[in-house]
Amino acid sequence: MFFTIICAVLTSFMLVFLFALRYVAEGRLLFRLRLAIFLMDAVLAAVFLWRDAPYHIGVPLVGNVTIFVFMAQIFGALLLLLAALFRFLWRRMLRAPYDPGRRRVLARGALLPALGAGAALYGGTLGRQSVVEHFYDIPMKGLVADCTLAQISDIHLGAYFDGQALEALLQQVAARRPELLVITGDLFDDMAQNEEAAQILGRHVDDFPLGITFILGNHEYYRNVDRTLSFLGRTRVRFLRNSSVRLVNGLYLAGTDYPMDRAHFAELKRAYARAAMREVPAEAPSVLLAHHPEFIDDGAELGAKLTLTGHTHGSQFGLFGLPLFPVFKYTRGFVRIGESLGYVHVGNGSWFPFRFGCPPEIAYFRLRAEEAKA
Ligand SMILES: [Fe+2]
Repeated sequence: MFFTIICAVLTSFMLVFLFALRYVAEGRLLFRLRLAIFLMDAVLAAVFLWRDAPYHIGVPLVGNVTIFVFMAQIFGALLLLLAALFRFLWRRMLRAPYDPGRRRVLARGALLPALGAGAALYGGTLGRQSVVEHFYDIPMKGLVADCTLAQISDIHLGAYFDGQALEALLQQVAARRPELLVITGDLFDDMAQNEEAAQILGRHVDDFPLGITFILGNHEYYRNVDRTLSFLGRTRVRFLRNSSVRLVNGLYLAGTDYPMDRAHFAELKRAYARAAMREVPAEAPSVLLAHHPEFIDDGAELGAKLTLTGHTHGSQFGLFGLPLFPVFKYTRGFVRIGESLGYVHVGNGSWFPFRFGCPPEIAYFRLRAEEAKA
């Protein structure tokens, strides 16, 4: 369903771009341009759907080129329409008389699709590859000692994020020497690479004094979750599924399963959160790990001091640090509910390899030991 929506959106934008080409050229040149672009789109879309559908299994080059071409058209269409709207308003302001013979073509209009192509090239390369590190300081009562917890999420192993990239990411996290690494789901997303990825994680456990903890996301279920868990079971990676653990520094770490039954999402979510927090004392320092950000509400209600989530990818498009498409209740960054904090990680990978204004991140939470009030 989601994939169908994406295809419909891309097709609509392609048509809008073909329409907006009227501001770049006219006459025979316009016809030829439209025909050439339409044919190129049709061929790329057919190859993409054949090779990469329904998610990201296929040849990375095909996906990258297709996404570049379509995104260039989306950015190009938006820029052309904005420029045409601006010119229309400008002429209205100057009260220019209507002249049917006036040229539709924008002066230097060809620059705008070129700018769009530049933005598309950025989003498909640097925009999705340059990892940003965020550092947060969170006081937490009852901790025996300070500890830093690093979070990565939504790696989405596959054609656009392989074992080598995972290794590099883990090395980058480990270099900051956090005590603990947590991975909040949607890592094991490729049947051909899941076993290798589990081994890579296993080799890095000793980089973190309090280990590596993993919880499930929805994509683990799409790629034979039991098979993945059997690979993980051969490592010392800590796996939490509606369960919790007390670490040596007094921190309770709880983790939920992912509620896959959409019809009963709310009830399951609540039940999973309760099960995860069951053995966590009310006043204890605690971190709840959950893939879906709506668990933040449950975490707050059940007394988790911090709930770490992912899943949204921060909408993959942003402006001034804010998500451009905030379609989730919580899409990116911190949420405060009473005394409890929630965090939505923007993810490290994606099945749609494109990010603009929403770079992948490593989030470091320094949990500061604070005396409980007498
Ligand atoms: Fe997800």
